Amino acid sequence: MKPLRIALTKGRLEKDTLGLLEAAGFDCSAVREKGRKLILPILGTNMEVVLAKAADVITYVENGVCDLGVVGKDTIMENGRSFYEILDLGFGKCRFALAGKAGTDFFSGYDAKTIATKYPNVTRHFFEGKGMDIRIIKIEGSVELAPLLGLSDAIVDIVETGSTLKENGLVIIEDNVAPISARLIANTASLKLRKAEIESLAEKMETERKKMA
Ligand code: PRP
Repeated sequence: MKPLRIALTKGRLEKDTLGLLEAAGFDCSAVREKGRKLILPILGTNMEVVLAKAADVITYVENGVCDLGVVGKDTIMENGRSFYEILDLGFGKCRFALAGKAGTDFFSGYDAKTIATKYPNVTRHFFEGKGMDIRIIKIEGSVELAPLLGLSDAIVDIVETGSTLKENGLVIIEDNVAPISARLIANTASLKLRKAEIESLAEKMETERKKMA
């Protein structure tokens, strides 16, 4: 049978995911020593890991070329389409925040405000909920630059420790948008066709997650 493929979000979530899999007894040494390889076996199992960017994890799982994926709830909220979210993995915790320059009143004035963000859909939804008309500018990273350079009035971004905001003179205006953490997602067909394998893996991951909590 084809290996069970798990797409992992490269970067921040990668280390925590491997830590959880190792705690659950899986040999991730090939992934740890990956070099520039992007598809790596979990030794001694019929599983393999695919390393991808967050939004691409969703694309691969949704299209069935990966059975499972580990991705942040922020990416799911921004791109989420059609797959199952089967487990909250408990790590990668952060939150969405609206933030702006310290000492300015974001809600004053009548002109539509400009918001810079990596998350245009989440941002649109957030301001629709407030009935506020805004203009969105999509930024790919280090969004904190936009208000500092005078491109936007504020940003909508994820905040973990708050240091990036603080060190750049920005403050949180609102951060009750949504709590975020890493999720295990599954392709809808895989969940039916490879139910036993997926359930067994998810159960092991959940047991370890509970121990780590
Ligand atoms: C994220 C986010 C913030 C920062 C928040 O960026 O976009 O910039 O982390 O973390 P903190 O509250 O702990 O400071 P990331 O490091 O993923 O890089 P990017 O901005 O280039 O996407």
